[in-house]
Order: sequence, then C-alpha cells, then structure tokens
Amino acid sequence: MTEEGLGEIVSALRESRKYRFLCGDTLERVARWAGERHSGRREIVKAAKRKLHQAYGAYLEGFNLSEIETIVEGVDPDWPDERLRETCLEILRRHASTEERIPFMAEAYGEIFRRVGRPRVILDLACGLNPFAFPWMGLSSDVTYHACDIDERIVSAVEGFFGRLGVEHSVECADVLVSAPEVEAEVALLLKTIPCLERQEKGAGAEIVRAVRARHVVVSFPARSLGGRSKGMREQYGGEMERLAAELGVGVEEISYPTETFYVVRKS
Ligand SMILES: C[S@@+](CC[C@H](N)C(=O)[O-])C[C@H]1O[C@@H](n2cnc3c(N)ncnc32)[C@H](O)[C@@H]1O
Repeated sequence: MTEEGLGEIVSALRESRKYRFLCGDTLERVARWAGERHSGRREIVKAAKRKLHQAYGAYLEGFNLSEIETIVEGVDPDWPDERLRETCLEILRRHASTEERIPFMAEAYGEIFRRVGRPRVILDLACGLNPFAFPWMGLSSDVTYHACDIDERIVSAVEGFFGRLGVEHSVECADVLVSAPEVEAEVALLLKTIPCLERQEKGAGAEIVRAVRARHVVVSFPARSLGGRSKGMREQYGGEMERLAAELGVGVEEISYPTETFYVVRKS
C-alpha cells in the first residue's frame, strides 16, 4: 500500500464515530495490518474496523467520557480527601476494569508498594481510568505520574485530573505496540491489558514487559473474561507469567484477589 493509500484508510477510520478518538499511531498500525492482508479500499477499511472492534470495541463502548470530563472539570484541589475519593469512585465505576477493582484497590496498592517500595516516578501503561485510583495508592505528593492510553478522551480526562490536583505528570496518547514510552520509572503498571494486546500482536505482552524502562513491572490479568467466563484463566495466565519470567531471567511474585491477579516482575 502506498503512503497515500494508507493516509486514505486512516482518514476513513477517523470518520467513524467509534474510532475517531483513537490515537493516530493505532489507526495507522491497524490500517497497515489490513492493507497487508486485503486489497481494495473498501475491503481494507472493513478489515481494519473489524480488527479495531475485536481489540478495543468492548472497552470503547458503554462508558461516557464526556460525562467524566465534566466531573473532572469540577475537581478542586482544596476538597477534603473524602470528597475527592467520592468523586474518583464515581469515575472508577464507569469502566468495568476499574469498577471491579474498587473493593480491593487500597489493599492491592498497599501490598504492591510494600513489596517494591513507594515509587517517586510511576508509569501507568494503557492506563484506562486507573489513574483515578490515585487517592488509594498512598503515593507521596511529589510523585511524578506518567500515563498513556490510545484513547484521546481518556488521556484528556487524566491530564485534567492531575493538572487540577497539582500532581506532576505527563499523559500521552500513545500506542504501546508502536513505541514503548521512553520515560524511566521505578514502577510500571500494565493492568488487565495484556490479553487485549495479545489479540493485536502475538507476543506483544512479553515484548512490552521487556522493553519498558522500569525496575519493577506490575502486570495484572482479570480472573474472568468480560463475558464472565473464569474457567482456567488464572492457571493459563500464571503459566504465561512463569514462562515470561524464565525467558527474561527475572523473578515474579503473585498477588491474588477474587477478580484480578497481579504479578510483580522484578527486572533488576
Ligand atoms: C482492559 S482496559 C484496562 C485499563 C486499565 N489498565 C485498568 O486496568 O484499569 C485496556 C485499556 O488499554 C488501552 N489500550 C488498548 N490497546 C492499547 C495500546 N496498544 N496502547 C495503549 N493503550 C492501549 C485501552 O484504551 C483501555 O483503556
């Protein structure tokens, strides 16, 4: 496919209501993928949309980001902690991934940082709405929070949130399958995203854990699928993490909760 042809496919994807908020790198990556397998503009666009739906459709549908932006605009750094937490909970409940983490998020972050130390620089890859769990992370006020996601609306809401709180941050609209973030952090979070990345590119999960510039990478997997299926998932992901640890020659520790299993990967 020529560069001009590629540009046309990306523009067609941008015109769709569902995918226009995805970052340019993602649209281009998927357009290239479809162009290598199909011919004719219509067929390529159709295949690209199908691929985007498989990988991201379930996450992009069903939550209203403009409402979240409105809530974020009201955040006041002088609010008492309780009011800030209530507002963050309202946001966390709007995405399945963060909603099911609510009951144990304070305990999970406490346990994770007890093992790896409280980071001064943290990187949240494919962050979704997880940065709104910040009040439960127990991080110091001089932490720097780096985050990225492929959805521009998520990025803008998270950016607005940290800006209002006065937390040092950088939030990028970036596709981790195109380029791993350059920033160096003490801890990188890659929560509940590997299955979604693996549907895009086989081996992507291991590659990111390898490439990310952090001493500790905290990976998590859902204990059941979006459809509610749980059979064998924990064993499957546990096995994959063991293989990855052996391949990278690093240690892995497991922390389990009923709906999510965390793996702390010690790279140093
Ligand atoms: C299942 S959600 C998990 C969100 C968050 N990490 C959490 O656990 O609460 C997957 C997230 O990954 C993002 N995502 C998917 N593919 C990505 C990619 N290639 N690069 C960056 N972000 C991606 C999606 O936009 C979505 O916000």
